[in-house]
Amino acid sequence: MYKLLLRPILFCFDPEKVHYFTFSLVRFISKIPFVASIIKAIYVVEDKRLEREVFGLKFKNPVGLAAGFDKDAKLFNELSDFGFGFIEIGTLTPKPQDGNPKKRLFRLKSDSAIINRMGFNNGGVEAAILRLKQNNGVLIGGNIGKNKVTPNEEATSDYVICFEALYDYVDYFVVNVSSPNTPNLRELQEKEPLTKLLQTLQDLNNTKVKAKPILLKIAPDLTNEQLLDIIDIVNETKIAGVIATNTTISRDGLTSENKVEMGGLSGKPLTKRSTEVIRFLSEKSNKSFPIIGVGGIHTADDAIEKLNAGASLVQLYTGFIYEGPQLIKNINKKILQG
Ligand SMILES: Cc1cc2nc3c(=O)[nH]c(=O)nc-3n(C[C@H](O)[C@H](O)[C@H](O)COP(=O)(O)O)c2cc1C
Repeated sequence: MYKLLLRPILFCFDPEKVHYFTFSLVRFISKIPFVASIIKAIYVVEDKRLEREVFGLKFKNPVGLAAGFDKDAKLFNELSDFGFGFIEIGTLTPKPQDGNPKKRLFRLKSDSAIINRMGFNNGGVEAAILRLKQNNGVLIGGNIGKNKVTPNEEATSDYVICFEALYDYVDYFVVNVSSPNTPNLRELQEKEPLTKLLQTLQDLNNTKVKAKPILLKIAPDLTNEQLLDIIDIVNETKIAGVIATNTTISRDGLTSENKVEMGGLSGKPLTKRSTEVIRFLSEKSNKSFPIIGVGGIHTADDAIEKLNAGASLVQLYTGFIYEGPQLIKNINKKILQG
């Protein structure tokens, strides 16, 4: 129904406008009596065998929504009705910011991909918290970043502000240092600044009555040497795990005209590389920490491949746009088939 009817209409319009329109539509229809229950009845796959315990948290199923879709925590309750086992909100920054000038989101239809250079547009962490207080029991990841105006030398304080503010409202944290759309952000992936940043957050975490899992989200463009550094850093700082991967700056093998746009590429062209990163991290670390696998999952088999490569959970973004909510159900059903 989505691919046949809805997608052809939605894909006629500007992608960012469609994003906000879809949010309004989902929010509106979810308020109509029984509609939320009908959506759940269609999409949610409930089965004990889908449940996962990862970094001390219980997931209803291993298929989550990746960061960037519900940046401002505006629709997580309704989105969870489509069958997601968890929703990652953000990237949130301490202060609200507009992000990059529009147009900044591009479909690459013939490549089943997206290029975005949103630049952490968000209403700031405090505004998101007001909405997170309305959580109906959804398992939430809080993806945090720094404001564009904050220099890298002061970045830690931005992450600390977001961590402290969100602490009571999210189940796990994601430290995002891998977006290509905030100038110089990815330099924070270097060993020294990254260790300092994660250690600061982990030390803070350990002062809490109950520490929360902190994960690091990495780019798919890291070299094997840098990935080995990541393993060392995770083990040294004892953070809970890694999300692999964010969008790529590579443009290999694309056919769409929009391939010339600046920004991060997601979707099918990323499938293979992100699975490679997952496999490398899993093997070289001897599975010493959990990995959430994300990047180019467009079919149930893509998800299974990531799980087989060493991911404990998976997340979707671009595949959700191209395939619709049926993809979540297909993945969960395929997992059940074994
Ligand atoms: C429009 C758009 C915005 C995104 N925003 C964020 C973000 O704010 N923070 C983040 O960590 N990842 C962000 N991502 C990256 C996704 O979470 C995901 O890691 C990436 O798109 C690869 O998965 P996919 O191929 O399933 O889309 C964004 C992706 C897209 C397409």
